[in-house]
Amino acid sequence: MEKFVIKGGTPLHGEVLISGAKNAAVAIVAAAILADGPCLLENVPEIRDINICIKILYEMGASIKIIDKNTIRIDARGITDPVVPYELARACRASSYFLGTLLGRFNKADVPMPGGCDLGDRPIDQHLKAFSTLGARHNIDGGVVSLRADKLIGSQIYFDIVTVGGTINAIFAAVKADGLTVIENAAKEPQIVDVANFLNSMGADIMGAGTDVIKIRGVKHLHGADYAVIPDPIEAGTYMVAAAATKGDVMIKNVIPKHLESITDKLRKAGAFVEEFDESIHVRCDGPLMKSSIKTLPHPGFPTDMQPQFSTMLTIAEGTSVVTDNIFDNRFRYVNELRRFGADITVEGTTAVIQGVPELSGATVKATDLRAGAALVIAGLMANGTTVVEDIYHIERGYENIDEKLRALGADISRVTDYDNQRMAV
Ligand code: EPZ
Repeated sequence: MEKFVIKGGTPLHGEVLISGAKNAAVAIVAAAILADGPCLLENVPEIRDINICIKILYEMGASIKIIDKNTIRIDARGITDPVVPYELARACRASSYFLGTLLGRFNKADVPMPGGCDLGDRPIDQHLKAFSTLGARHNIDGGVVSLRADKLIGSQIYFDIVTVGGTINAIFAAVKADGLTVIENAAKEPQIVDVANFLNSMGADIMGAGTDVIKIRGVKHLHGADYAVIPDPIEAGTYMVAAAATKGDVMIKNVIPKHLESITDKLRKAGAFVEEFDESIHVRCDGPLMKSSIKTLPHPGFPTDMQPQFSTMLTIAEGTSVVTDNIFDNRFRYVNELRRFGADITVEGTTAVIQGVPELSGATVKATDLRAGAALVIAGLMANGTTVVEDIYHIERGYENIDEKLRALGADISRVTDYDNQRMAV
């Protein structure tokens, strides 16, 4: 297994280029299934979750051409058997998007229950509610969700809980349904808008994406399209926090500042200097970090995907910070690992209370999920001494070349594989 070895204590300096958005790209790759022609996708991040989605398409019969590491041509017309391979589906949460896209194209889908980061209970009841509202029947047997519909009919869908995946899957199932679908209490994350823009470029008729009411008029055909994925707001936010946490000075390039407003606001309140430009954002911190109160909320609130990274920065802020995750019921599993650095954190349910300490000291830790892994890397960059982060495959699911990008910012981080250790041990 691979690890990161980090010698911390050096402020990050320089420029970093943000890659395409993981949580938009995984949905857009799946959406290519709906096209009656090839799609050319650009600014696709080179990460494990994308590789899994591409492999699922390939296994089902789509033709895939990797133009370069961030450009992929997908022609899904060759898919005849809408059955997603079991082990691939379990490898990520985004496999749930094959439910909506296969149903939208074939009126049927057989997709294993999705996997993904272990953040507590992650049901798909709202996805199934949307599908049945449109006229699909579902059955779950042997861990596989089977959907069947004689015909999908445009309807009124009301989500009991704001769900990103549920909203995207409802759009996928509705784009070719008969008539008008209205989605109420829809999620408003940037990836919802990106997916809707991609589908509209294919000939769909979607209005209101990015608001809590989305209207979709079903169309008969969707043609192929060329599309570039938006920059990743969570990758950008991660580097913003890393810059502030290491008291550095970093220009984060290829971003949409509007997508980062809640992160910018909280960083400024914590004592960092943040300046927004058209497509970049400058973060600098040369003084003490101040305590913060964070409550994660659906967009445009503070994103749950930034909670572990920001909480890590707060371990050295002056005073007592309080972080509440209102989205997932078990997203503090990384706290035990943070304590190995000397952090002073107590967790009660979905709230963490963080007493600032003067400094962290390096430790050997394990990544428990994607964003927790990124948080532990930030802790290693902040800490005095050497940190080893194990199970970095979690991190590679969502961050393109994170060690290369950090080295370019002056970080002392190297990637080690176990056999290297054994050889050194001899
Ligand atoms: C997406 O997950 C993202 N994943 C997550 O990012 C992100 O944390 C989450 O949205 C919230 O922003 C991808 O896009 C692949 P939800 P998703 O449905 O769609 C509950 C990362 O680190 N819920 O918005 O699964 C659910 O349990 C990952 O990049 C139901 O109860 O999230 C959660 O408590 C982690 N029933 C809340 O809603 C449902 O049918 C929000 O989940 C669906 C969800």
